[in-house]
Amino acid sequence: MLSQNHLHVSLLYIVLLTGTKYGCGGGGCGACTVMVSKYDQLNNRVLHYTVNACLQPICTLHGAAVVTVEGIGSTKTKLHPVQERIAKAHGSQCGFCTPGMVMSMYTLLRNKPHPTMEDIREALGGNLCRCTGYRPIIDGFKTFCDVSNGCCQNGESGGKCCIENGTKQHKYSDLFHMDNVLPLDPSQDLIFPPELMIMGKKRACGSLCFQGDRLKLISPVDLTNLLELKTEYPEAPVVVGNTTIGPNMQVKGVHHPLTIYAGRVSDLHTVTWGKDGVSMGAVCTLSSLKDEMERAVREMEAERTRGYQALLQTLRCLAGKQIRNMATIGGNILSANPKYDLNSVLAALDCTLQVMSKENGTRAITLNEELFTGFGKTALRPDEVLLSIDIPYSKPWEFVSAFRQAQRREFAFSIVNAGMKVLFREGTNIVESLNIYYGGVGPTLVKVGRTCQKLVGRSWGEELLADACRLLEEEVELSDSAHGGKVEYRKTLTTSFFFKFYMQVLQELRERDVNVCLLPLEYLSALKPFKNEVVCLFLLQLVSNAQSSQDPVGHPMMHQAAFHQATGEAQYYDDIPAVQGELFVYMVTSTRAHAKIINIDPSEALGMTGVVTFLSAGDVPGQNRRMLFNNPEELFAEEEVGYRTVPSHYHSQSVSCVGQIIGAVVAESREQARRAAQMVKVTYQDLLPVFFTIEEAIQHQSFFDPKRKLERGDVGKAFETVDQILEDEIYLGGQEHFYMETQGLIAVPKGENGELELFVASQHSAYTQEVVGITLGIDSNKITCHVRRLGGAFGGKVMKIASLSAITATAAVKTGRPVRCVLERGDDMLITSGRHPFLGKYKVGYNNDGTIMAADITYYSNGGCTLNESLAIMEKALLHMDNGYKIPNLRGRGLVCKTYLPSYTAFRGFGGPQGLMVMESVLHEVAVKCGLPPQKVREINMYREEECYTHHKQLFSPRDMLRCWDECLDKAGYHDRLQAIQQFNTSNRWKKRGISAVPMKFGVGFSKGFFNQGAALVNIYKDGSVLVAHGGTEMGQGINTKALQIASRILKVPMSSIHIKETCTGNVPNAAPSAASFGTDAVGMAVKDACEKLMRRLKPFMENHPKYTWQQWVINKHPPGYKKVNIMMLLGPHTDMDWENSEGPAYYYFTFGACCSEVEIDCLTGDHKNLRTDIVMDVGRSLNPALDIGQIEGGFVQGIGLYTIEELQFSLEGVLMTRGPSQYKIPALCDVPPQFNVHLLANAQNPHAIYRSKGIGEPPVFLASTIFFAIKEAVAAARRERGLGDSFPLSSPATAERIRMACEDQFTEMAPSPKKGTFKPWSINI
Ligand SMILES: Cc1cc2nc3c(=O)[nH]c(=O)nc-3n(C[C@H](O)[C@H](O)[C@H](O)COP(=O)(O)OP(=O)(O)OC[C@H]3O[C@@H](n4cnc5c(N)ncnc54)[C@H](O)[C@@H]3O)c2cc1C
Ligand code: FES
Ligand code: FES
Repeated sequence: MLSQNHLHVSLLYIVLLTGTKYGCGGGGCGACTVMVSKYDQLNNRVLHYTVNACLQPICTLHGAAVVTVEGIGSTKTKLHPVQERIAKAHGSQCGFCTPGMVMSMYTLLRNKPHPTMEDIREALGGNLCRCTGYRPIIDGFKTFCDVSNGCCQNGESGGKCCIENGTKQHKYSDLFHMDNVLPLDPSQDLIFPPELMIMGKKRACGSLCFQGDRLKLISPVDLTNLLELKTEYPEAPVVVGNTTIGPNMQVKGVHHPLTIYAGRVSDLHTVTWGKDGVSMGAVCTLSSLKDEMERAVREMEAERTRGYQALLQTLRCLAGKQIRNMATIGGNILSANPKYDLNSVLAALDCTLQVMSKENGTRAITLNEELFTGFGKTALRPDEVLLSIDIPYSKPWEFVSAFRQAQRREFAFSIVNAGMKVLFREGTNIVESLNIYYGGVGPTLVKVGRTCQKLVGRSWGEELLADACRLLEEEVELSDSAHGGKVEYRKTLTTSFFFKFYMQVLQELRERDVNVCLLPLEYLSALKPFKNEVVCLFLLQLVSNAQSSQDPVGHPMMHQAAFHQATGEAQYYDDIPAVQGELFVYMVTSTRAHAKIINIDPSEALGMTGVVTFLSAGDVPGQNRRMLFNNPEELFAEEEVGYRTVPSHYHSQSVSCVGQIIGAVVAESREQARRAAQMVKVTYQDLLPVFFTIEEAIQHQSFFDPKRKLERGDVGKAFETVDQILEDEIYLGGQEHFYMETQGLIAVPKGENGELELFVASQHSAYTQEVVGITLGIDSNKITCHVRRLGGAFGGKVMKIASLSAITATAAVKTGRPVRCVLERGDDMLITSGRHPFLGKYKVGYNNDGTIMAADITYYSNGGCTLNESLAIMEKALLHMDNGYKIPNLRGRGLVCKTYLPSYTAFRGFGGPQGLMVMESVLHEVAVKCGLPPQKVREINMYREEECYTHHKQLFSPRDMLRCWDECLDKAGYHDRLQAIQQFNTSNRWKKRGISAVPMKFGVGFSKGFFNQGAALVNIYKDGSVLVAHGGTEMGQGINTKALQIASRILKVPMSSIHIKETCTGNVPNAAPSAASFGTDAVGMAVKDACEKLMRRLKPFMENHPKYTWQQWVINKHPPGYKKVNIMMLLGPHTDMDWENSEGPAYYYFTFGACCSEVEIDCLTGDHKNLRTDIVMDVGRSLNPALDIGQIEGGFVQGIGLYTIEELQFSLEGVLMTRGPSQYKIPALCDVPPQFNVHLLANAQNPHAIYRSKGIGEPPVFLASTIFFAIKEAVAAARRERGLGDSFPLSSPATAERIRMACEDQFTEMAPSPKKGTFKPWSINI
């Protein structure tokens, strides 16, 4: 009996294999990648391919072998070289993505032991990592490339060595060494199980039937059987790859009681090449389609394969490798989803479908717009099955192209896709036939038939182009309120794509000597798609090597748990095996933004199998709230006015955002709890007002108190004397944390004295402990929180996890049983929220030489429905508003808007990236107005004196910031490249480049002084081993590794003799959160202090017995108290802000840096490519350059997401619609600049922190704003050419849509914005 419908990780749990991670459940992250091996009877070979375990139905694996990360190596036996190299190359931070990365690479090596960089790029395209920035992963894996000189074979011309042709310099990273790494020995790989081989060689057994409690899957073995089943069960979907059906069932909750698996029907796998083209069996995967097309393009004459080339263009960017290995061509077509890419191309190619039913036999259907009768619906009869797709060769005078534009270049659904084919009368430019199909501009595939018809018989020239655009504009109907939004952009893409097609064809006609108009040379680059290169050039860093090699401080030591993470042995909270009697809790959340709760009716849910209880505010034994600085937030929704700590019944409660927790269902299993939660009926009465955006909050004057202000100089007076005044604003969208491990915990009641243990994914276990205590009404001393590691956190696992813990603990106490809570990705995004959206309105006074004399900036943040940490975040934005600039008269006001959205929270940078960004925007716009290069205006305004005061009167020296800046411009070759870019821009009309550099001054530590403390407990055992416990949380940043390095230095014992087990409130109480880039400073100092104290105690004995070993010293030194430092609480220097007087030492010290980035944009599509980034960062004297560089790269890439691609969309009703990796795009491998150089500033010092190092976790995020400003420069270049002003609004993130629409031209003019108020937009900018 199957209780689950899929082989996803929870089934792997049953066999206690936890290496395969569950990050999204929808095929969108790659954390669950495993290798499937199958015997291919047709070709007598074993196929190895990756799949996403979360979507692979277990019943479809009959006869297949599945290899998980545990199967290839372990720390207990032997690591596989892939595991060893990703670990040693520092490619594993939090480690949650690592097993998936390992399995993708392992499978590639199984198929190709000597891969190229392109192979690696393709293999990892479907694996996301939120921590590393990908570079170190590639760095480790590229060591498998078969090259002696380190060339990545990523050269410009088809694998040509780029060291030889001088375009790039190469070497393996200095951060790890290839000495002593295990060689790849394919003979050691697991063999395909002989019993499966024997089974595979035999004739397939008959139909298989898998019966679950709610689901049934039948797997017929032949076509007759399949057709019979389809006749008997016409409503049952045919499932093959399960990549459409699966996410619908897993994520959207669609239920199919019966599915028919067609993957074993060999007739549907057949590929037949004939005289007219190829017939691809319907269940051929997209990978096999791609292989066939590549072979055809390689082996056949180019003229016949034009259509196949177009298909390949699409297939290369379509999904990730795992999905392409699972997804079938038939499934892609029949899913009838206009965002899927194949239909527009296949329809343009005049493909035919062969379908069959038991009753009516075979019939051929043309693949065109008529096949699709609605979203997800086709004209196939319910009893029909798709047999194959005939894809014809191209004819001699036929030209074909495929286009797609997505939010992210790879591994993302297209916003609009298109297939275009034109046939000319032989030897002429007269159109004989034209096919144009679009996906993404309506609920189904759109053929622009009228346009095509009217262009037949016309000459391919400018008149045709003009008419075509006009006709397209008329024919593509997209209502202003169309589903998916981005209406003007989508309309513009239809004509822009056609223009590209027009140019491509014109070029090809000219190559054939047909008399057509000349395509201007500067148009040609528009025809080249961006190349997705892999990061292969590497960096220079200066590692401190002053001390002995025995002393690990300053050396690039590997993350202490990297091997365990790479083998899947590292335990995260949800890897802890089920405790006896364990239950599962699932949250019931509000579907209304502002409403009174009339009634909550859990009766149907309570009657469902496995459901144990339902919880709501009335079940909370203590207080139904958590507090932060006197700001309360309810756990469960309560009455709107005032607080009732223990409501007696369900009535009269109210909610103030969609996603607010109303109740929770507790059941025996995840599935039962999830299903039951959907059955809880909540009756609402909508309340007014309801609004979501910053603009609306300003209209309603809806702000939280207190409002903040910082001021230096006399701003008003200065405005009277300046040459110019500029008033403008910039909007910055929010950001989802998208840590790979979603939030959750296990609460285990101990049964005695009300004791409770929590295994929780928290960055701040002491706060979780406190909130749970208040909720349950019991003392903190009875509650113990354990945190081993987090699969990423980025600030998102401080506050909300405390509420989830309190609810789960309440469930555990109520039922007396252990309770597990694991948020699904969509719920995590909905409930926990993320980085605050900001609006910065500014008035700036400057002189004509670019000197800024005065700036008055008002920051508005969208705080959501409760204050939470929003005030502290706004304060940080204000405290960072001066960045590195000495603006003598500066005023900042900060207002946190209260809206009806989930409460926004901390996110890496904590307001810094927003505060800094607004100021950089000011600098940028002043430069534009003055007609000066922005870098010059930045330089003019920088702090320069040795002793400077920030706008909040904190003393600092900008010397190292200026050094970072100068070195950065120098290393980046900024000035030369600026010229080259200008040259590029004049010779390219539709592609433009931009470059930008920014300096950075970033405050480290908490501005509330009492948080600046660390604690550590160090035990030395009689055998000489050492156990360190501290109050920090290991979430990938390597805090444990650094703590070990420090302990090792002081105690003078190897790191291997020192151990860190977990963070536990029972060992180290009242610890501060690991945040504010301050974790290592605090914990490091505490560990150092504790170890020094121990050494002081041991010292006399050691001096008396200098020949003893460490073990002899500690064995002999009694009593035990000598070997244990109970708790070292280390209080950092006082930091505090006096907001009344705008002054105070808000930070411990500043981390400095500078960054320069270059991008190229496609003006026709809005696509952009990050070309090169150079960073110079001052990390003081790095404790561990590998970890610090990892933080810089990872933070920077997260910043790329923040400023360019990560876009959250809310409906008009305040519902977050982007709730998973399919809709919300974090940077993937394709977004990392292929030249990414990180330099650590030499001879940097920091007297304030441990061993003169500096905190580095948060600052690098902001450096990615260089990409935003480089994009803005590139857009400005495009606009200048059109005679438009280069001062124009551009909100962050600079998405493809925003870039395209800012590059105003004849095509955007055809899609004017509708008047506000005349339509209902699909989404809003909150
Ligand atoms: C993370 C992710 C990213 C993706 N990215 C892209 C992308 O960028 N571009 C893109 O185009 N697509 C993308 N896809 C979609 C993917 O290509 C399709 O889901 C896939 O091709 C469907 O094939 P399948 O075998 O998995 O279909 P299934 O889910 O197994 O079935 C899909 C539908 O097809 C029907 N069907 C399948 N075969 C037959 C048959 N022989 N006869 C009758 N009916 C049949 C089924 O009944 C069902 O309705 C993505 C999917 C995921 C999960
Ligand atoms: S969990 Fe399977 S792809 Fe994300
Ligand atoms: S190391 Fe990749 S997600 Fe954390």
